[in-house]
Amino acid sequence: MSTDTTTASPSREVFSSRLAFLLAAIGSAVGLGNIWRFPYVAYENGGGAFLVPYIIALLTAGIPLLFLDYALGHRFRGSAPLAFRRIKAWAEPVGWIQVGISFFITIYYAAIIAWAGLYTVKSFTKAWGADPNTYFFSDFLKMEADQTFSTSIVSQIAITLALVWIVAIVVLAMGVDEGIGKTAKIFMPILTVLFIIVVIQALFLPGASGGLDALFTPNWSALKNPSVWVAAYGQIFFSLSVGFGIMLTYSSYLKPRTNLTGTGLVTGFANSSFEVLAGIGVFAALGYMSMQQNVPVDEVVSSGIGLAFIAFPTIINQMPMGAIFGTLFFGSLTVAGFTSMFSLLEVVVSAVKDKLDLPRKTAAVSVGVAMALISLALFSTTSALATLDIMDKFTNNVGIVAVALISIVVIDWILRRIGEFALHLNAVSSFHVGTIWRICVVNITTIVLGYTLLQELMTLVREGYGGGDYSNTQLIMWGWGVLAVILVGSFMLSVMPWRGEVSLIGPPGSDFGVDPDMERTIEIPQKYTPQETRHAGFASEQEAK
Ligand code: ALA
Repeated sequence: MSTDTTTASPSREVFSSRLAFLLAAIGSAVGLGNIWRFPYVAYENGGGAFLVPYIIALLTAGIPLLFLDYALGHRFRGSAPLAFRRIKAWAEPVGWIQVGISFFITIYYAAIIAWAGLYTVKSFTKAWGADPNTYFFSDFLKMEADQTFSTSIVSQIAITLALVWIVAIVVLAMGVDEGIGKTAKIFMPILTVLFIIVVIQALFLPGASGGLDALFTPNWSALKNPSVWVAAYGQIFFSLSVGFGIMLTYSSYLKPRTNLTGTGLVTGFANSSFEVLAGIGVFAALGYMSMQQNVPVDEVVSSGIGLAFIAFPTIINQMPMGAIFGTLFFGSLTVAGFTSMFSLLEVVVSAVKDKLDLPRKTAAVSVGVAMALISLALFSTTSALATLDIMDKFTNNVGIVAVALISIVVIDWILRRIGEFALHLNAVSSFHVGTIWRICVVNITTIVLGYTLLQELMTLVREGYGGGDYSNTQLIMWGWGVLAVILVGSFMLSVMPWRGEVSLIGPPGSDFGVDPDMERTIEIPQKYTPQETRHAGFASEQEAK
């Protein structure tokens, strides 16, 4: 084995401490998915019984794939396309597909943060008046659901959305540690305190226990329904930010010796704890609303966007100290959204930075401004909600699932490299992975994702989406078209030559290096011989232990 250690590797930014990385990773995971998505997904899929598939999905797919993402980023020290290129040159498009998905999620995610930011301010005066439903759709969004692309701009949304982008671009331009790491250290404690106050306030409302009963009373028969399991796996992927480049990118900024699995376990459990806390807070508030209106809880629950922007203003109108509750609730949603948006945007910025060898500030500003303009064009107009809803459905339910499946097929079914990642994880981490981890990643996840994807595609082809609310043109433009752009774009970007450094040669004494032909990375964990590493498989791992 030849490890050329004479050439110093191009320096890569690093998180200054494990805490900075941990908070950034938790900040990425805890987002809109936890606060508005989890409660209604849990409720629609068996209530308390949903926690069973949810925990199984967390343990069999969420955390194992989080470990894999960490291993990929840390071992190959690159953005998603660079990491996949370093695994095997032809695998580069897989990384770009991840970037493409993050690109489209970021441009609409920013819009939801802008809405939440505006609602934080509107909570002071309860600006939505007596009918939050009409206010949200007609006055606030000025929604035209049948418009494929509207050019009428809603000015307050446009201004706030522009501000959201400015904040994100400034944070990313400041760098990995100074920007992302430092803001996570400030935002995450604030978010935790805000949200705990929201939950406690909600729990003291009359009728709260009725809401909790509705959330936690298990409907065991739901577990026989495959779509409940599909929903649990979908929720875990989105919520933990796994499989679409985020955790891979963040872990590429870690120092060589970092406890990856230990950090992954903390991230996974912190995210789920926050999610269950959100479920408790949201349903306690809904219990109060159902008592006030004298209707069952299931009649006050609506889907994600409605839950936050319609049900909550209704609750705020009725409750004592509603203005404070509203400000804290929408403030939490905004802060949680921001820390996730930074991570989504960083997937794209870091990929362009690596490919074109740009300085950080240039990459952050050029990528950020280009994306901000697209985001403003699509989501500050009267057609925003329809576009957002369709794009969210296709990028999440098809895009994330498909690329997670493709990554696993490429990494293990074709390249047979999973053992190498186990070795890498074990060389640096406290919690060791073995056969069970491999079965989870390679077998269970492949089956579940394959099934999920097939179901989803068949339903979309047969029934379309939106129950007739959207035209075929809208679905083709913002759904199928977006997926096609991601796929074609990935191959086009992959054939473009790299200006940045592709080979991974560790500086003298470092733990990283790579064969000149880029076919096989060489790690030099102190515990393993090069042969064991090179032929990494579970047999050699056992021997090495
Ligand atoms: N993980 C992020 C969320 O939950 C994307 O919103």
